[in-house]
Amino acid sequence: MGKPSAPRLPATPDLKTGADLMSVLPMTAEVKDGHLWIGGVDTVELAREAGTALYVMDEATIRHQLSEYVKWTRFHWPLVDTVYAGKAFMSLAMLKIVAEEGCCLDVSSGGELAFARRADFPMERIYVHGNNKTPVELAECLDAGVGRIVVDSFEELDRLSAMASKRGVSQKVLVRVTPGVEADTHDFIMTGAEDSKFGFGRNQGLALKAVKRAIELPGIDFDGLHMHIGSQIFALHSFAMAIEVIVDFMREIHAETGVEVRMLDTGGGLGIAYGIPDEPSTIKDYGKVVVDGIKAECEKYGLVVPSMAVEPGRSIVANAGVTLYTVGSIKEIPNIRTYVAVDGGMSDNIRTSLYGAHYEALLANKADQPREMVATVAGKHCESGDIVVNDAPLQCPAVDDILCVCATGAYCQSMSSNYNKQVRPGVVFVRDGEWRFVIRRETYADLMKCEVE
Ligand code: LLP
Repeated sequence: MGKPSAPRLPATPDLKTGADLMSVLPMTAEVKDGHLWIGGVDTVELAREAGTALYVMDEATIRHQLSEYVKWTRFHWPLVDTVYAGKAFMSLAMLKIVAEEGCCLDVSSGGELAFARRADFPMERIYVHGNNKTPVELAECLDAGVGRIVVDSFEELDRLSAMASKRGVSQKVLVRVTPGVEADTHDFIMTGAEDSKFGFGRNQGLALKAVKRAIELPGIDFDGLHMHIGSQIFALHSFAMAIEVIVDFMREIHAETGVEVRMLDTGGGLGIAYGIPDEPSTIKDYGKVVVDGIKAECEKYGLVVPSMAVEPGRSIVANAGVTLYTVGSIKEIPNIRTYVAVDGGMSDNIRTSLYGAHYEALLANKADQPREMVATVAGKHCESGDIVVNDAPLQCPAVDDILCVCATGAYCQSMSSNYNKQVRPGVVFVRDGEWRFVIRRETYADLMKCEVE
């Protein structure tokens, strides 16, 4: 066993232990016997038994978040779909939970649709996204009988019309609109601004032209509008502003064509707490701003209040998940920093290097001890940018400690890679003191399964 390393910070009364991280951990997290427990499972024992690196997800938190969305959107209007954005994290077990909680599913590729089909997810509850769905993917959607396709370009509208007509079906579509609202978030995950590869802007009547074409084309059943202004959004007024724009567009559609928009899908984007100071809005407040906002705007123009949909991804799964690693080495660079290297890295969490994301970390086997030093958690990849957490307050680390990075349930496993031929970690679901692999760890054979010799 390695010996404790790195200079300690002077003890101050506000040093944080694992118990202070509850706002970023799953709702069932607790510190017991000095260890971090999630879902009634000792994460230290779990790490030893299941191996690391390991994604751990708390089923109770996932179900709670889904049911909060259903509850606080339908509280204001009975016709609201909660559409889980599968890109945040998808597995067959996850899809089973989404279906059981009565929610719908956003898929954004043929692969995600294939998962939904394999999970026997009700096809009428599928919303299909993507700014450039291939003809093959569109055919798969039509063959599967998906509920709604969110169209993103004129070419796609024409293609879909031809394909649906040939099959003798009429496909429900939503037209994706870019409301021109700049959400207060990272540039790379901001999607609602005028200059965007997604959707149709209202400038020069493009969005109206798309809607008119959707109304006219055979094989297309124009159901309504979609927008998505970005991700990890804290300020609810960004949603309110976009809703004003899109309901004004509903008014214009009605005035120009006489057609009432039957459904309005406002996308996802609600932010979550990655760090202790983060105070995201609640699902309850989000539901009120979005659903009441749409109702109020519609009433202002005398429009029929449409069915609605919201598409949360991150806020369903991010805080439900953590990643467990084993500490392999501790490198103290005098007067500069201490690197704590773990058995994973940018292949299982690209968000730090890609977006400069910040995470909280703790040593799961020392969860009751103060996080009295500051260390940088480094991965094992051949890249100096391979950092999992920059400047993390941490308990004094030793080799073989179990290091837990919090709030990694969204966009970590789903954006993982095999860089350096690293096998992807498995995913374990915990619930009521039991754990099970829902995705097993990859093997070297998995890495080579597509090789042609
Ligand atoms: N609907 C659409 C059409 C979307 O494009 C997205 C996310 C969502 C819903 C779900 O948004 P959420 O509730 O998760 O914010 N890789 C980035 C996030 C990219 C989000 C892409 N679209 C990250 O790791 O932060």
